[in-house]
Amino acid sequence: MKEVKTICCIGAGYVGGPTMAVFSLKCPHIKIIVVDSNPQKIEAWNSNELPVYEPGLLDIVKQTRGKNLFFTTDIDSAIDEAEMIFISVNTPTKNYGVGKGMAADLKYVELCTRQIARVAKDDKIIVEKSTLPVRTAESIKTIISGCSSEFSFQVLSNPEFLAEGTAINDLLNADRVLIGGDQTPEGLEAIEALTAVYANWIPRERIIQTRLWSSELSKLTANAFLAQRVSSINAISALCERTGADVDEVARAVGMDSRIGPKFLKASVGFGGSCFQKDILNLVYLCRHFGLPDVASYWEQVIKMNDYQKHRFAQKVITTLFNTVSDKKISMLGWAFKKDTNDSRESAAIYIADELLQDQARVHVYDPRVSPERMIDDLMFLQSVKNGNGDNKLSEKQIRDGLIVHKDPYQALENAHATMVVTEWDEFRDYDWKSIYDNMLKPAFLFDGRNILDGAGLEEIGFKVYQIGKG
Ligand code: UDX
Ligand code: ADP
Repeated sequence: MKEVKTICCIGAGYVGGPTMAVFSLKCPHIKIIVVDSNPQKIEAWNSNELPVYEPGLLDIVKQTRGKNLFFTTDIDSAIDEAEMIFISVNTPTKNYGVGKGMAADLKYVELCTRQIARVAKDDKIIVEKSTLPVRTAESIKTIISGCSSEFSFQVLSNPEFLAEGTAINDLLNADRVLIGGDQTPEGLEAIEALTAVYANWIPRERIIQTRLWSSELSKLTANAFLAQRVSSINAISALCERTGADVDEVARAVGMDSRIGPKFLKASVGFGGSCFQKDILNLVYLCRHFGLPDVASYWEQVIKMNDYQKHRFAQKVITTLFNTVSDKKISMLGWAFKKDTNDSRESAAIYIADELLQDQARVHVYDPRVSPERMIDDLMFLQSVKNGNGDNKLSEKQIRDGLIVHKDPYQALENAHATMVVTEWDEFRDYDWKSIYDNMLKPAFLFDGRNILDGAGLEEIGFKVYQIGKG
């Protein structure tokens, strides 16, 4: 088996960046070159203001950058030098043409596959790291073999299971690493080469080797199951509110059944992130494609329940505020899709802000990590994917006028008619809620979309509190 001395990773995003940082730390004998077509991103990776916020990431990058970890826009040279190439580019849901709103857009994957085929001057192992629909590896193989017949290219699937906010720990102590490949002698050799890389820090028994398609489908299935748990508890939260049960108590009781387990049962304002919705939509698309409409509808319901939960929360705010938020100051704590990340893709905050802006609210946001430009872009992107005749689309002016972003949370909260918590940032618990109450309009409404302010004694202070799944 050929030893891997140099790895190239195409795509310096939330997956590629942290993954390669950990590779560089754990494999000091391997040169890791991370490339991206976006020069600003590469510049940021070479500075101390990394484009990705992830606890522990900067420490690792500082230790290995310039030693065995490199960030560059020179994609061709990196491809040429590496024996193993990870494809870690973005695969958003298509917002145009065939499969709009459902299928994964593979144009970035295709582009970099063609680039590998054009540049490679020897055999390569190509590893798909992005979340991709089943049988994408097959497309990569077809493109590669159509472009070059001189060299041998092995395609592996090595899906990512890291969760943002805990990426470094997830990579260092992975529950499992999944490597799928062809069951031919060359394919098995490539699987072994990647296994040897991970074996530098992951015990071999946690490295699962499968055939290519099983690996690809396992990733979609894992995310669909996780998202399904969140939608399930969120569905129960609506029932709890009607009946006076407490969803956190229900989740605790249910989770103590060892067959069910306690994780991923936190009722919330709805799941976000770049993976859950996209992966389920992908699964649904695949099922329809393969003539399984009942299976497709089953999984589609997980997304519908999530949409329902976000909508329900926004409507709760509007109805509680006497059926209108027009010209009212509504403060929003959090924009990221979960704590400890600056990623806001598919965050519930975007949908909630959108509904409130449509009702002409002034939404005052504070998030410790997400930039104001990102928030505007998120809202603009949402308008671009809305269907219908445009009645419910906000103009850029409406968005820019209605969304006011603050650096200081207390300013976001001052004189507000109501406050919403949409991300579970730890710091929100430590705020001086008494002085926030004193500076809010009365009655002071607080909508805790993450149920994190239980111990803060808000009702005793005078707040009118709404929590998810509490009657
Ligand atoms: C997910 C998977 O967990 C990870 O394995 C995969 O590689 C990528 O997709 P990520 O999207 O980064 O990771 O975060 P995750 O922790 O899974 O949270 C997703 C969303 O679900 C967040 O919005 C989170 O707030 C929400 N969530 C999660 C809940 O609302 N309740 C829960 O109990 C758990
Ligand atoms: P993910 O969460 O999957 O990591 P990101 O959007 O954070 O997604 O990162 C993907 C990165 O891939 C982006 O920085 C983008 O610029 C980069 N990228 C996309 N296509 C190419 C390409 N053909 N060559 C190099 N980099 C690319």
